[in-house]
Amino acid sequence: MKITGRFIAAALMSLAAAVASADTRQLGILTPPEAKTPRINAPSRYGARPGHPILFKLPVTGEEPIATEARGLPEGAQFNLETRLVTGEIAVPGEYPVVFTAWNAHGKAEKTVTFVIGEKICLTPPMGYNAWNAFAGGVSEAKMRIAADKMIEFGLDRHGYSYCNIDDFWQKSPSQAKDDPTLSGPERHEDGTIWPNSRFPNMKGLADYIHSKGLKAGLYSSPGPYTCGGCTGSWLHELQDAKTYAQWGYDYLKYDWCSYSQVATGKGREYHTRPYFLMGRFLRMQPRDIVFSLCQYGECDVATWGEAAGGQCWRVSYDVKDRWEHVIERGSDACEKNWFHSKPGCWNDADMLVLGRTVWSKGCLTQNECYTHMSLWCMMASPLMIGCDLSLIDDFTLSLLTNDEVLAIDQDELGAAAARVLRGDGWEIWARPLVDGSSAFALVNTLNVERVITFSFAALGMRGKWKVRDLWRQKDEGEFEGSYGFSIPGHATHLVKFFPGEGAGLKPCLKDIRDNAWRLPFDSDRAKAVQEASSGPCSRCD
Ligand code: GLA
Repeated sequence: MKITGRFIAAALMSLAAAVASADTRQLGILTPPEAKTPRINAPSRYGARPGHPILFKLPVTGEEPIATEARGLPEGAQFNLETRLVTGEIAVPGEYPVVFTAWNAHGKAEKTVTFVIGEKICLTPPMGYNAWNAFAGGVSEAKMRIAADKMIEFGLDRHGYSYCNIDDFWQKSPSQAKDDPTLSGPERHEDGTIWPNSRFPNMKGLADYIHSKGLKAGLYSSPGPYTCGGCTGSWLHELQDAKTYAQWGYDYLKYDWCSYSQVATGKGREYHTRPYFLMGRFLRMQPRDIVFSLCQYGECDVATWGEAAGGQCWRVSYDVKDRWEHVIERGSDACEKNWFHSKPGCWNDADMLVLGRTVWSKGCLTQNECYTHMSLWCMMASPLMIGCDLSLIDDFTLSLLTNDEVLAIDQDELGAAAARVLRGDGWEIWARPLVDGSSAFALVNTLNVERVITFSFAALGMRGKWKVRDLWRQKDEGEFEGSYGFSIPGHATHLVKFFPGEGAGLKPCLKDIRDNAWRLPFDSDRAKAVQEASSGPCSRCD
């Protein structure tokens, strides 16, 4: 292993974290209380395949009762005024702009959502819930039903979260059956159909229940004989499993690599890609849209072939747990190397969110670190899968998950993930262009002491005056020329949007605000070093 200065700094920082975090100001809740006037939080483009069932819930915030209306729905689609669901099937490929209106006693909001009927789905990163970080191997149908209930109770659907996904452990596991009888019994029926474990007595019923809430349902498998948790995988049953998932009504498959190396053939790219191409084809053959989420930790440069394999998102790193090193190094470093592959329908997945109480360490991140985590995931256009026990969620975590101006960065229709455009000793600046002509910037303080982080516009090829808006606080900061700076407490991130003002623009040679990233070297040593640094216990929670 190569010990870099950065590695030593990271190790020292993690040791000192408990002490130092007490010294730096913690940000607390920044998201303002929800406005009473309606706001439509839908992405502006929504993809579905021709003739496949649509389940689109219009996310609206504001004081109820709110009346809604949809104009311009194409043939085959209906909008239910009570549930705010668009359902049906649109047979003819094309782009259909639908104007949604929402109004109440305090005001009115309008938003055009274009339904794009064609091959591409997932035109913005998927948002939802995944049970792994909350329950790991202890998941059950009952817990999934509660998770779906809680998504509605806490209004997460009103902010755009739409998937409710089971991870590992809905299948049986012969190797663990002795210790846990709920995992025992035949893994498949006589005809080869997968037989869920006894904690999941009714997979179709569960999907129906999730759908009845206006949410979509997801599950998990592995191309190998067994999953990472040692449960039954899809090996030699890929087509049959794809059909079963569709018959049960699932909308999302996370497909893990684990145990496939025991049966994999071929070399190099063939070795790594074959099972994903196979399942991608089989999912595409089903009469419903099933998001295909590749989970093989970024091996063999997955971002370069994930789309061809039929995927909509792909993990780019090993598991991210609620530890500063994982958030700042593992998740973001991996995305940093792949930002240019991000586009509508193709997302680098920085792994599930570790905000709130997870099964691993019950909240190892400081508040400031949580801001960095959520800000970076949104900047990187990562899928946003909530990964905590929703029954135990606290107000701070909810405030992180439901800031609509922050979420809008993740869901921006350009799909242009941020690149790390500037970097100095203990600070980083990430930037991405947005569809409205503005750009988002994240100023990340990677040291655990408060400091002012400033950057000069000239360093990024920016000219003129820019109007700055603080996205977490949802407040305008004023107009800036020449440079911008902000005082940021230890391990926190300041997230802002820059709107072009007088004379604003980029040097003509620049394509967009991310171009400076090409001048910084990718730090490939860093992720490796930190992986080793973080294999020890988390000092703050153990
Ligand atoms: C792997 C994945 C995790 C989770 C577990 C389940 O570790 O990376 O996200 O799905 O498997 O066993």
